[in-house]
Amino acid sequence: MKIRSLAAPFRSSSRNNVLFLSTVFLFMAYATDAQHSAKGDMATEQKIHALISEMTLPEKVSLLHGNSKFNVSGIKRLGIPEWALSDGPHGVRAEVNRHDWAYAGWTNDFATCFPPGTALAATWNPALAYKQGLVLGEEARFRKKDILLGPGVNIIRSPLCGRNFEYISEDPLLVSKMAVAYIKALQSKDVAASVKHWLANNQEEHRDSIDVTMSERALREIYLPAFKASVMEGGAYTVMAAYNRFRGEWCSENNYLNREILRKEFGFKGVLMTDWSAAHTTVKAALTGLDLEMGTDKKDYNEWYFADPLIKAVEEGKVPMSVVDEKVANVLRVMFNTKIFDEKRREQGRMNTPEHQQAAYNAAAEAAVLLQNNGNLLPLHFDKIQSIAVIGDNATRKHCSGGLSSEVKALYEITPLQALQQKFGARVKINYARGYEKQSTFREGNNSGQSGSLNVNWKLIDEAVAVARESDVVLIFGGLNHDFDTESADKQNMDLPYGQEILIQEVAKANPKTVVVIIAGSPVQLAGIVHRVPAIVWSWFGGMEAGNAVVDVLSGKINPSGKLPFTLPVSLAQSPAHALGNFPGSDLKVNYEEDILVGYRWFDTKKIQPQFPFGYGLSYTNFSISQFSTDKTGYGKNETIQAKFTIRNTGSVYGAEVVQLYVSDPLCSVLRPEKELKAFQKIFLKPGETKTVEMPVKVADLAFYDESKKAWNTEAGDYILQLGNSSRTIFQKVKISVK
Ligand code: BGC
Repeated sequence: MKIRSLAAPFRSSSRNNVLFLSTVFLFMAYATDAQHSAKGDMATEQKIHALISEMTLPEKVSLLHGNSKFNVSGIKRLGIPEWALSDGPHGVRAEVNRHDWAYAGWTNDFATCFPPGTALAATWNPALAYKQGLVLGEEARFRKKDILLGPGVNIIRSPLCGRNFEYISEDPLLVSKMAVAYIKALQSKDVAASVKHWLANNQEEHRDSIDVTMSERALREIYLPAFKASVMEGGAYTVMAAYNRFRGEWCSENNYLNREILRKEFGFKGVLMTDWSAAHTTVKAALTGLDLEMGTDKKDYNEWYFADPLIKAVEEGKVPMSVVDEKVANVLRVMFNTKIFDEKRREQGRMNTPEHQQAAYNAAAEAAVLLQNNGNLLPLHFDKIQSIAVIGDNATRKHCSGGLSSEVKALYEITPLQALQQKFGARVKINYARGYEKQSTFREGNNSGQSGSLNVNWKLIDEAVAVARESDVVLIFGGLNHDFDTESADKQNMDLPYGQEILIQEVAKANPKTVVVIIAGSPVQLAGIVHRVPAIVWSWFGGMEAGNAVVDVLSGKINPSGKLPFTLPVSLAQSPAHALGNFPGSDLKVNYEEDILVGYRWFDTKKIQPQFPFGYGLSYTNFSISQFSTDKTGYGKNETIQAKFTIRNTGSVYGAEVVQLYVSDPLCSVLRPEKELKAFQKIFLKPGETKTVEMPVKVADLAFYDESKKAWNTEAGDYILQLGNSSRTIFQKVKISVK
């Protein structure tokens, strides 16, 4: 329908004239764009050119759309193999049937399951993201996959977004650092990353129809940086266009995003693919830079927008052959980059080795955030404990297989109760009580399955109180599960579901030595429990080694070093999108009115006290941070500030601190956030050990996006560098000036 309206512009309405003219414009824009991307490795470009010159139009087009759920056809006579794609960000997904969504029932696809995005981010350790990328690359190669559909780098804008657990943080720098490390490692194993979801897929509600608008400044400062870093620093070979619209246009055919920003500004020469079933047109999508259509439910693959209709569009002159050639070149370039044509493609792959499992354990162990530890109740000294009450559905629930497209068929998954039994069961009496029951059901695209989430089961609470009373210490494993943290539906609220708040309050009355462990991938409200229990650990969805990691943290074998990658509000109403009433939008439109004030940028600027701030997390040891200085006091705009500080582990156990450098610009021509993260480093120290650490910050990174100039602007004047271990705990400040 839409194709026809473009083809007959002069007989129809003025609206169609506009459509036609914009198509002509896009067509012309393409020609100039094609010249831009003609750079690169000449030898490879020549090979690409030679291959394309051998292809018929149907052969070319066969490379531009799926031929099954996760494959793209090759061209046998030219030696181009079929392409194999796979989800997902924290484990290689089990094999799905070629033509439907059922699992194929293979026996060799049990994968290593890592803790998902927010957990990885809570480690604040890009080296772990790098290690995860290596493992995923090896496992993807073992499964003969060419592209892994991750990482998910959308900003956590609201505590309610169902996919927050897969994403990384509310802060663009933290997302960028983790994503770049992950992508570089993954691609070093000859597997292409697919950075998703481009762009503004910050909610699941109406994700396939919502139209997102935001200021250019919010786009540049908050929502683009992680994609930019993924492409420009990480060198991501593919990008996945989101389902939603951005400023009125579908992301899969958005000229501004796809040609102006991704191709021209970022210099992206890889493949822009759709999310599964996110294409809407043939001609417009083709002209605006989409390369690959994936995942529609149309049974006949030839009917897809980028199949027969694309051939027809070329034959009718609506899409120039050069546009098709450019897409094919992008596909071939990714194939060359991932060494698909090499006899000895470097990485043959490995699956679920002890080293892979160790990497999953390390990530889970470093992710745990100690939120509260009154009276140093933690670590628990199991040698002095006779009995322990273990309470909560999450003590026994496995989570790797949930969340939809990111679900992983883990080789095994250790639950907290299993780990406790295995590590201490012989010496300590473990009294388990369920405490609360999972009453929700997952319903795709509809979160009403969560509506039973507040029912209190008094029988289970009574049982829990009884075991709490007869035990020395209590561990409650609560939080969420993937009925809440999931693709395709947002949470309805930030509550701890199934009456857990009441459970925790009652149990704590019965036994004040109660430790709460929150297993969740997105913020939940803790206001009802923080004053009732002495100790709270946030241990995320922890992947296949979840139980081992959290128990090692509770027992002190591991000293917690995780920090919150998002602000934990006291209540939902505090957080920006909700305070302003623009989540999830109305009439299928959402305007990001909070603008650049996302996450701690909002809380700190508006002086709102959250429950726990961004970057926050305690340790079993103490650190002293001092001698914060810079190499100079005045800098030019192209210089780098060499900041430096000394850190000492003043406690008695080994541990790690994440030192965070925030910058404020107190006098600026536009509103700036109270502070913004500009650098961070995780530093590991033995007891008594001291290190002097350098933390460079480019003056250019102090800039804001100046809408009046349509450019980044580092205004001359004073800036305050603030060194701390959360956005609300600042130890030292240094003033510098920019000339
Ligand atoms: C998700 C993507 C995923 C794709 C393939 C889509 O529904 O949004 O993140 O990679 O499915 O499973």
